[in-house]
Amino acid sequence: MIDTLRALLVSGKGLLAMDESVGTCNQRLVAAGIAPTPEMRQAYRALLLGTPQLGEGISGVILHDETLRQSLDNGRAMVSTAQLAQDAGVLIGIKVDLGTQDLPGHAGEKVTEGLDGLGPRLQAYRALGARFAKWRGVCSVDDLARPSLACIEANAHALARYAGLCQAAGLVPIVEPEVLMAGPHSLARCQQVTEALLGSVFSQLQRQGVALELLILKPNMVISGLDGPQQDSAADVARATLQCLRRAVPAAVPGIVLLSGGQSGPQASSRLNALHAVPDASLPWAVSFSFARALQHPALEIWAGQASQQGAARAALMHRVRCNVAALRGRYTAELEIP
Ligand code: 13P
Repeated sequence: MIDTLRALLVSGKGLLAMDESVGTCNQRLVAAGIAPTPEMRQAYRALLLGTPQLGEGISGVILHDETLRQSLDNGRAMVSTAQLAQDAGVLIGIKVDLGTQDLPGHAGEKVTEGLDGLGPRLQAYRALGARFAKWRGVCSVDDLARPSLACIEANAHALARYAGLCQAAGLVPIVEPEVLMAGPHSLARCQQVTEALLGSVFSQLQRQGVALELLILKPNMVISGLDGPQQDSAADVARATLQCLRRAVPAAVPGIVLLSGGQSGPQASSRLNALHAVPDASLPWAVSFSFARALQHPALEIWAGQASQQGAARAALMHRVRCNVAALRGRYTAELEIP
C-alpha cells in the first residue's frame, strides 16, 4: 500500500476517474449522440485508457467493474485492461460501491450501499490487477434540513467500513465524501456542510481503526451551488477549500485528490491552480486531482462514437491532463486554453 500511495501521489500527476456506473455512462454517451450500448462503453473506455501519453500526467485510473473485466482494443489487438493500463504507465483502481439508494425517512437523501460481501470482492479485484479502490458517499444541500445528521453519519460509517476492508485486502482506499453542487446554496453553506461531513468521516475512520496514513481523501472543492446567483472566483474557492481541509483533515493523511463535481474543465483547472498559488500554503498533504467530467468531457464530445475521431479525442483528453498538471504547479493560465 505504501508503494501504491507513493506512485499515486507522485508530484505533478493526478487521477483520471472513468468509473461511471453503466447508467451514468449511458447518459453521457446519449448526451454526446452515441448509442448507449456495451460495445460503445467498451470502445470509449479503450479510447481513454489507450491514450499513449496518459502516464505523463496521470498516475492512476479509477475503473468500473465492467471495464476491469473487459478486454479492450489497443488498436492492434484486444488486450486485458490491466495490460493496457500498464502500457500507459498508470495504476488501476476500482470503484467498489454499488451506488446510492434512498435513505428511508429522509426525503431526497441517499446512502451508498455495497458492504455485504465486499471483502471477497476486494480480493478478486486485487487478483485482476487493482491496487486501489474508491467508494463515494453523497450529501445534497439546502439551507436548513439537508444534509440531515442521519445522512452524514450513515455515509461516514459506510466509508469507514469500506476503508477498513480495503486496507485488510491490501488495497489503498480512496475515501470520497461528496457534497453535491446542485442547488442555489452559498459558498459558506457548502463549507459548513463539507466540514461537518469530513468531521464525521474522520471520526468514523478513527473509531473503526482505519490507518489514516494509508488512505487518500477525495473531497469536493468548496463552491457555491450551481443554481445560485453567483459563481465564485478561483481565489475564493481556493481560500474556502483550504480553510475547510485544514480544519477537517488530519495531517496523517498523505494525500487529497479533489473531484470536479460538474465544474467545466477550465473552471476546475483554474480553481486547482488557485489552490496551488495561495501564498504560504504549506500543506501537510499532497493535493492533486481525480476528475471525471472535467477531464473527459471534451474528448467524449469530439469522439462522438467515430473511430476516425480517436486521435483528436485523445488529444483533447491530453490537453485537459496537461492543463491540470500545469495547475498543480500554479502555472495554469486561461491562455493555455487557446488552441
Ligand atoms: P467528477 O470529477 O465528474 O465529479 O467525478 C469524480 C468521481 O469520481 C465521481 O465519483
